[in-house]
Amino acid sequence: MSRWKRREQDPRDPARAPSPSKEQPRLPYPDGWFAVATSGEVRPGKVLTRRLKGEDVVLYRTTSGRLSVVRPFCPHLGAHLGHGGTVRGDNLVCPFHQFQFDPEGTCVKTAYGAPPPKARLATLDFREVDDLVFVWSHA
Ligand code: FES
Repeated sequence: MSRWKRREQDPRDPARAPSPSKEQPRLPYPDGWFAVATSGEVRPGKVLTRRLKGEDVVLYRTTSGRLSVVRPFCPHLGAHLGHGGTVRGDNLVCPFHQFQFDPEGTCVKTAYGAPPPKARLATLDFREVDDLVFVWSHA
């Protein structure tokens, strides 16, 4: 085997080491409050999807004006609530099977009878300040 061929196969050869950019971990996102929308974008009855740290979050405002921010996936069969989800009164309605969730994320109504006790949307902590909606996020 030639000297050059041996060098190509030697894993200890620094020229064959992975580049520093491949070894470095991805930078973590900082913990904190992130502005995801203006208050005017989430009018009563509106459902809005925004990206936060590479993931979707769903914002909606009830017809009485109460804002809520939730993870996008329905706990029933995983429908994305930001794609076809609607607001009915104080509840967010899933587009697939019309399960309804109150602003705390509790399933309060289904088309099939009593709501499943463990069906619950993951809600996110948020604040509305100076016409901006901030969502808390940490790693
Ligand atoms: S997937 Fe949402 S109610 Fe079935």
